[in-house]
Amino acid sequence: MTISKGMVVGCALTTLVGLIMFPGVSLASDQSRAKEILQQSCVQCHRLEGKADSRFNLKAPDLIWAGSKYRRPWLIGWLTGKEAPLYAKSYRWDLTEAPSKHPVVTESEANALADYFAEHNKDPRVTVGAFDLSRVTKFEAGFGAMAFKAHACLGCHTINEDGKIIGGPQSTALHASGQRYDQDWLFRFGLNPQDFVPHSGEFLADATEPQLRAVIGYLMTQGASDFKYYEPWTSPEFDMASVGRGKVIYKEYCSQCHGATGKGDGPAASGLDPKPAIHANIPFEKLPMEYLYNVINHGGPAIGKSSNMPYWNLTIGQQGVADVIAYLKATFKGSPDGAATTATVTAPSGSQSDACVQPRKTAKAPDSFLAMTNPLAVSTEVLQAGKTLFQKSAKPAACAMCHGEKGDGKGMMGAALLPPPRNFTCNAMMKDIPDGQLFWIIKKGSTGTGMMSFSGLPDDKVWQLIHYIRSLAR
Ligand code: HEC
Ligand code: HEC
Ligand code: HEC
Ligand code: HEC
Repeated sequence: MTISKGMVVGCALTTLVGLIMFPGVSLASDQSRAKEILQQSCVQCHRLEGKADSRFNLKAPDLIWAGSKYRRPWLIGWLTGKEAPLYAKSYRWDLTEAPSKHPVVTESEANALADYFAEHNKDPRVTVGAFDLSRVTKFEAGFGAMAFKAHACLGCHTINEDGKIIGGPQSTALHASGQRYDQDWLFRFGLNPQDFVPHSGEFLADATEPQLRAVIGYLMTQGASDFKYYEPWTSPEFDMASVGRGKVIYKEYCSQCHGATGKGDGPAASGLDPKPAIHANIPFEKLPMEYLYNVINHGGPAIGKSSNMPYWNLTIGQQGVADVIAYLKATFKGSPDGAATTATVTAPSGSQSDACVQPRKTAKAPDSFLAMTNPLAVSTEVLQAGKTLFQKSAKPAACAMCHGEKGDGKGMMGAALLPPPRNFTCNAMMKDIPDGQLFWIIKKGSTGTGMMSFSGLPDDKVWQLIHYIRSLAR
């Protein structure tokens, strides 16, 4: 028998670290050899056939559906000992076992095993193509992240959030899901977990299929650094968008709130707080498509705004959303002199006058918030981080879009909002607003105004923003 060079190196390495090593296999994907390895070295812990059973009756996760469950590169990585452990507290935490090192095989043995699984351990319940990864939007993944928390998933599984591993390490780690799972298996698992792990501590979430899809989409982005999100506004519907059809949709659906000519004065408007946006004042051509698409397709809450702005996806469909956006862009160009039409009066440049002070009806933060002070020291890095969030990266929308690049409240959306966005350059007003008040409004939003909630921003990012906002005061 010939022993390849790779095998010798593999052998030297594995013996060195004292892990299990299996005798060499011939190069061709050797099914009978794979079977032998499984019989000799795997079945004492793993089941390869049978029905789903409780974790409390097993020694290791079932490999019954191994041919459908994993992405091949992850499987090879796992079998050759290159992947992080999955059960931080050991698979059988109830036996107070410490997690042990998993047996390791060589690269070629791992490939033979992967081939074997693909051949013999496909799960007929999994529909190939049931979950289309190329259709996951950033919004959907963000919604999935929220649903993951709202449905207690974080209580028993770990995920990666902003580079930190969070969550209860009770069951399997999900922070590399995108590298590990086949999306169709994951989706099928989600449809009814008890088909795979009954009586194991797993729970059944009360989620609709769109919610499940959002969670699966989100999980598939975990650990996938170059995940390519689907951008619906690049779809054929948008290429074929018609201003004429959009005009009809506007009349039928939008004018009841936004008014026939976009002045925010439709019949429903009198009873609404906040008021429907004054479309006539918004330069739609300049708004990011992602923002416009999300507010119209997914509704006000998708961008942290009022739930009285409906989600239109079911009513008018993808083509209707594309058409009405085309109509908005063709029709509304914003007020000619930007935010000058609003109540804001700006001080003559150079003078530190009180004239810039806006009537502030903003709700007062609770005392516990008002007592807070910025825990971060000002530094160039902190200001730079705050600036990036303010000008570009804050989600659902960059602050500059409303508060303006200079922070003077004259962003391109400023003129569409009543009350107008706060003018952070006005020192005479800003000096009397405590840090804790700013913090509270950024986190919660200002009910009844265009100021949306940024509840998704971690505390330290909000404090970076506050330092930046303070640096704008003149
Ligand atoms: C001593 C028991 C034991 C042996 C022998 C063993 N495994 Fe495992 N295996 C485990 C445990 C326990 C886990 C759970 C991983 C963890 O705890 O991080 C696991 C995890 C796995 C996983 C990932 C399962 C999942 O979906 O979470 C695969 C794949 C796997 N083993 C394949 C094999 C193969 C192939 C062999 C034989 C070469 C083998 N194992 C031998 C105990 C064993
Ligand atoms: C009360 C604890 C608990 C909660 C809450 C929970 N899980 Fe689980 N989860 C488990 C257990 C236990 C298993 C069984 C797998 C194992 O540990 O052997 C499991 C298995 C899984 C698996 C399959 C893992 C694999 O590799 O076989 C996925 C995916 C999963 N859960 C996702 C979720 C999602 C999504 C939610 C939220 C809707 C959720 N879980 C909520 C405990 C929990
Ligand atoms: C039931 C009333 C209602 C209807 C009908 C309605 N909207 Fe709205 N819309 C609102 C309200 C209220 C807001 C303001 C939300 C806020 O500021 O929190 C809003 C905001 C918006 C915005 C966001 C502007 C901004 O401030 O960022 C856009 C764009 C928009 N609507 C488009 C539409 C389109 C297009 C239609 C028709 C397909 C439509 N709306 C139908 C109530 C409505
Ligand atoms: C869609 C428009 C819009 C966006 C985007 C926006 N704001 Fe606002 N913001 C407003 C409006 C309108 C007000 C005035 C609210 C009021 O008068 O109660 C406001 C008020 C505020 C206030 C004043 C609080 C007070 O007590 O006076 C702060 C602080 C603030 N915004 C911070 C931010 C930050 C930071 C961001 C970005 C992370 C941001 N805003 C993004 C519209 C917006």
